[in-house]
Amino acid sequence: MRLAEPILTRRIPSVPHGDPKDRRTVDYDAFVRTDGYKGLEKALDMDSAAVVALVKDACLRGRGGAGFSAGLKWSFVAPDDGKGHRYLCINCDEAEPGTFKDRLLVDFDPHLVLEGIAIACWACKLDVAYFFIRGEYHHQARVMQRAIDEAYAKGIFGKQGLLRGKVKHAVDCYLHRSAGAYICGEETALLEAVEGKRGWPRVKPPFPAVKGLFGRPTIINNVETLAAVPDIMHRGLEWWKSIGTNGMPGGQPSWGTKLMGVSGHVARPGCFEAPLGIPLRTLVDDYCGGMRGGKRFKGAIAGGVSMGVLGTDQFDAPMDFDIGRKFGVLGLGTACPTVFDEDTDMVAVTRNCARFFMNESCGQCTPCREGSGWMFKMLLRIERGDATTADLDLLEEVAGSMGLSEGTTICGLADGNNWLVRTMLKKFRGEFERRVKPKFVPLHLSAR
Ligand SMILES: Cc1cc2nc3c(=O)[nH]c(=O)nc-3n(C[C@H](O)[C@H](O)[C@H](O)COP(=O)(O)O)c2cc1C
Ligand code: SF4
Repeated sequence: MRLAEPILTRRIPSVPHGDPKDRRTVDYDAFVRTDGYKGLEKALDMDSAAVVALVKDACLRGRGGAGFSAGLKWSFVAPDDGKGHRYLCINCDEAEPGTFKDRLLVDFDPHLVLEGIAIACWACKLDVAYFFIRGEYHHQARVMQRAIDEAYAKGIFGKQGLLRGKVKHAVDCYLHRSAGAYICGEETALLEAVEGKRGWPRVKPPFPAVKGLFGRPTIINNVETLAAVPDIMHRGLEWWKSIGTNGMPGGQPSWGTKLMGVSGHVARPGCFEAPLGIPLRTLVDDYCGGMRGGKRFKGAIAGGVSMGVLGTDQFDAPMDFDIGRKFGVLGLGTACPTVFDEDTDMVAVTRNCARFFMNESCGQCTPCREGSGWMFKMLLRIERGDATTADLDLLEEVAGSMGLSEGTTICGLADGNNWLVRTMLKKFRGEFERRVKPKFVPLHLSAR
């Protein structure tokens, strides 16, 4: 299953996570020498509507978590009314625990991302791009700013029009550093943050494609989604469709490659580019050198903690966009799994993740604001052995009542909390039950 030649990251090697010496950022000249900006050239030879249609046909699923078709999203953008700017926001917030992939794209191949940005702006007739980057990504912010400056100097962006005036459409690109909060990765909270306000998600509709940043039509895409576009343009649809899986009957395909950042109890954690559909076991054994210390696999967070957990018998789950429907998790998410070995205390993992969601809730919706704190306290009690079986049922009930999909919250943060807790309870029930006391039943009510 290992790709002979990685695609997105072809200019950089797969790197061990966190190696401080690996700072080989590709500059403009090196990028151009390896077919850089060829995809943009091709896109500018086409009508912008045809570019949208091509990306739609490629069924490029969003790499930021939800897996929504990028081409379809692009096709929703309101027509140009000539009354002001139209925006692209690039989501590089990457605060989902366990996720580290966008950072590496920026670190090593920033022009690939800029090429994707330029193509998206041409396709959707957007004239201002905001690159929204996580506050803690100091180095990456410097790398990206340098690349943006280079792209201006080489005439990719600027008032002369894209690619040294090849088309009259001019695009400006700005870096915007987040003040730092997980919720600012949610697309409408991101818009609020760019507008200089507190990062509170907005009620939808209206959707950003119609009324987004400063009330104008806006497309929001993840860094990796945009980085996939140049190769689709340059190498073509057939090539793209030859990688990945065709998906379940009646569903959408999972074509192309995906950056998968693997962390946890594996021998060699790292970020790898792999074809969608690769079994988790292959990812761990072939790419990460197997489980750390030869221990047995116990479970894995599917792709960011918001997606919930894969059980011990789900090690062979293919990492594609059907994983949610087939394996009882919310979805593929960011495809960055955190792997747990046989010694892991899953109750402690759940409590730790619940604390994260409690701290990161923005507080607008009661079920998320109150429920997340309530669940954390229950999990603490369970971990300490102070809870009863009734707490397990209550925990399940509280978790199952919060979320966008339950119709009780504004954004999906609560769904992440919900899925993490419920899948843990379902797939590792025995571990929770061993930590609780039987429910207290007064003598006069118990069966005689
Ligand atoms: C709480 C929360 C945090 C999110 N954080 C991110 C993030 O850090 N990066 C990201 O690309 N998408 C994040 N998303 C998803 C975005 O809302 C949005 O779906 C995505 O940026 C769209 O890009 P895509 O279609 O290219 O994936 C988050 C969603 C939620 C609910
Ligand atoms: S679900 Fe939670 S994070 Fe999202 S808007 Fe409501 S309170 Fe805020």
